[in-house]
Amino acid sequence: MRRKVIAGNWKMNKLPNEAIKFIEDLAPMLEDADAEVILCPPYIDLFYSLLTAQDTKIKIGAQNMHWENSGAYTGEVAPDMLSSINVEYVIIGHSERRQYYNETDEAVAKKVKAALEANLKPIVCVGETLEQREAGEATDVITKQTETALSLLEKSNIEKVIIAYEPIWAIGTGKTATPDDANNSIKCIRNKIAELYGSEIAEKVIIQYGGSVKPDNAKELFSMSDIDGALVGGASLKVEDFIEIIKAV
Ligand code: PGA
Repeated sequence: MRRKVIAGNWKMNKLPNEAIKFIEDLAPMLEDADAEVILCPPYIDLFYSLLTAQDTKIKIGAQNMHWENSGAYTGEVAPDMLSSINVEYVIIGHSERRQYYNETDEAVAKKVKAALEANLKPIVCVGETLEQREAGEATDVITKQTETALSLLEKSNIEKVIIAYEPIWAIGTGKTATPDDANNSIKCIRNKIAELYGSEIAEKVIIQYGGSVKPDNAKELFSMSDIDGALVGGASLKVEDFIEIIKAV
């Protein structure tokens, strides 16, 4: 059985003192949590978050990184920099990065490879726009994004990657894909991985759903056969909401 992974993506929110307070409040509530819990704070909060999360069940991830380990890339952060302070996860190819910072499928592929080389576990985001969905292209888009994102990896590394299926029209909009829709899209992604790397590997890959996951829809989403947890934006900013989502597992 695949484990359930709940990751909070704080995006550009929370100062270091707010991150520390959040982790101090959340950690004692996780004693008997069944899910793996990850928080992805902004870079500036990472070190404080790591120190506060030490000896708790909370794991820490970054929201992005460059694919090179050093060089003249003003404003960027390298994979080795993240792993040197014990960051464990990194979100790659979030739709906001693809949309606002022109991140391409090819850049995502380089980042996924670089993350694994630096011993970081990538959470790779894929998802279609509303226009693509309405044009009947959703499956093609998400399977192609998945295929390219994994294309530079050795077969033995595929199962280390977490994929987050996040339909762009559902992010921050309050619109969630129905559990059946989300499950079907995730099945298409899993089938693609099976076609490329075999079903044994495909069955091991964690595939989360993301897009307006809230305390009141989490349980139904997590009851679906192929949804292995969630990447949570807005509802990860309040301990009360985030813990309810974790408890829904
Ligand atoms: P949301 O964001 O939960 O606020 O829709 C999800 C995400 O962007 O990862």
